[in-house]
Amino acid sequence: MEIANITINGQPVSAQVGSTILQAARQAGIDIPTLCDHPALIPIGACRICLVEVTGQRTLITACTFPITEGMVVQTESPQVVMARKLILDLLFSERNHFCPFCEASGNCELQNLGYRYGVDHWLYSTFTKAFPIDATHKHLFMEHNRCILCGRCERACSEIVANHTLGLRNRGNASMIHCDASLPWGESTCISCGTCLQVCPTGAISDKRSAFMGRDVQTESTKTTCNRCSIGCGMEVVTRAGNVLRIKSDWDAEMNGGRLCEYGRFDPLYDPRDRITSPLLRRKGRLEPVSWDEALQSVADRVGAAQGQEIGVLTSSNSTNEALYLLNKLFCQELGAKNVGLLNSVAPKLFDQPRGLLADIVAGDVIMVVGADPVKDQPVASFFVKRSVDKGARLIVVDDGENGLAPFAYMNLRIADIGRAIEIAHRAAQPIVLYGIGASEAAVKSLKALQGKARFVTLEPGVNTFAAVTFGFNNGFKPSAVKVLYASLGEQDWSGGDMLKAINKGAFVVVQASFASPLTEKADVVLPTAIWSERAGSLTNTEGRVQKVNKAVEPRGGAKPDWEILSLLAEKLGRKLGASLDEIAALAVQEIKYKENQR
Ligand code: SF4
Ligand code: SF4
Ligand code: SF4
Ligand code: FES
Repeated sequence: MEIANITINGQPVSAQVGSTILQAARQAGIDIPTLCDHPALIPIGACRICLVEVTGQRTLITACTFPITEGMVVQTESPQVVMARKLILDLLFSERNHFCPFCEASGNCELQNLGYRYGVDHWLYSTFTKAFPIDATHKHLFMEHNRCILCGRCERACSEIVANHTLGLRNRGNASMIHCDASLPWGESTCISCGTCLQVCPTGAISDKRSAFMGRDVQTESTKTTCNRCSIGCGMEVVTRAGNVLRIKSDWDAEMNGGRLCEYGRFDPLYDPRDRITSPLLRRKGRLEPVSWDEALQSVADRVGAAQGQEIGVLTSSNSTNEALYLLNKLFCQELGAKNVGLLNSVAPKLFDQPRGLLADIVAGDVIMVVGADPVKDQPVASFFVKRSVDKGARLIVVDDGENGLAPFAYMNLRIADIGRAIEIAHRAAQPIVLYGIGASEAAVKSLKALQGKARFVTLEPGVNTFAAVTFGFNNGFKPSAVKVLYASLGEQDWSGGDMLKAINKGAFVVVQASFASPLTEKADVVLPTAIWSERAGSLTNTEGRVQKVNKAVEPRGGAKPDWEILSLLAEKLGRKLGASLDEIAALAVQEIKYKENQR
């Protein structure tokens, strides 16, 4: 790594050759203001607010685009620099309607902060009076063009981070506007509602409808956690105020997604319309009635404790945490001898002995085969990686018998029976990547063996925590007719058992651990209310086998409890000690996941 030594504001600074002045300054803790620049985007030098003085240069230069060279001398706050920045701010504030007290971003706006920093306390020039429209056609967002400073962050984020290319710039000069596709209303455009543009916008030009005016950053708290909507496990931040979830942001530091989130992760959890169960329920005289936790758990313990191992059935959703899956296995399978256990979602076929590839590998691939999986629908952030790779020149081959969201981006679309053609192309590639899911037939998996040692294989599991569920023995093969006591741990998952309801033994005692009412809870003898994603701590294992932390952002609603705690209390009632605290159980669960993964 070649290093250049420079001086910024008289301070010696060393940074890698090729770094910009802005990057070198930030590494040394020296603040240079920015507006169009964002660490996750390619710099374009559009707003000029980062201008600095460099000895020997004819004019002020943009720190965000200018690379450092050995011996460079930089001044970031010289009188000339400050005067130029003030002028830029005066022009920006005059150009559109930046009347801050009426803006959602007030108090949390990068433009406003710079106004305060450089003493812009009045309009120096008469304000431009043209009123731009507001686009409120999007289901989650609105765009207030009057607050837009045309920094282009949103447009670049939509292309460079999400590879969706919905946003662009239309018109020229002071009539310039951000627009969607060929100037369609946002709500009718190709936008996939990932919200990345919202997160990078430095002003109040893009806001989200649900949390607008409900709390500025200083009034809120933020908790880092892991999304539980699919098996990618994106890192995110939950923003809360007074115990309520206001909004969800992506976590730029998260290793998995590096700032990406999809609609399922960012918006859907905020609009969950389902009926929440908030108290333990026990069936008496044919009706479910609220009871105490002690009473509910005792009745479960009495029936479970009296049953033989072969009479007990256990069904789990892949939404359960690692800790809950560990306890389900430990208590029911190892302690009580249950063998009839199952998972509510399907599992991707087991590939031949091959280390699991990482999602980050996708970006380096030159040929990407997607076999029997549709990440656009099921694991959207993985599809962002694929589309970004295609933008950079990778060839995408979709091998699927059904409709596939990646088909329009593919160089070749094939039916599964024709997988051989894709394998031939992948063989000639330098770095082929295979993404596969539940739609990959046995024959397809067999053919893929030809790429063993050549390609990297990335599994796209359906469900959230399928990796851990399978590790703890929960897979397909549950037989509902054989059970006398059924323990179903649904968590937040909708009941997807369909006909299984009819097949469950008529006299079976049904216990359902769930957050929401469903056809299964209606049939239950005992219902145990379970905390949802924002109310629980623990961990999840993503499709790569990466264990990720889940943190509690708000208290559980009503009497709900986290999935692992319910199982821990039940174990106590049954006289079994399976770990005293979450930390203890988490350590045991992770140890077992790692141990079993090494044995594969
Ligand atoms: S929400 Fe996502 S897809 Fe839609 S315009 Fe913004 S960045 Fe693009
Ligand atoms: S909408 Fe926001 S991010 Fe996009 S150009 Fe305008 S100010 Fe910049
Ligand atoms: S890709 Fe999956 S884990 Fe990531 S935000 Fe979307 S639903 Fe959540
Ligand atoms: S931040 Fe450098 S030009 Fe905008």
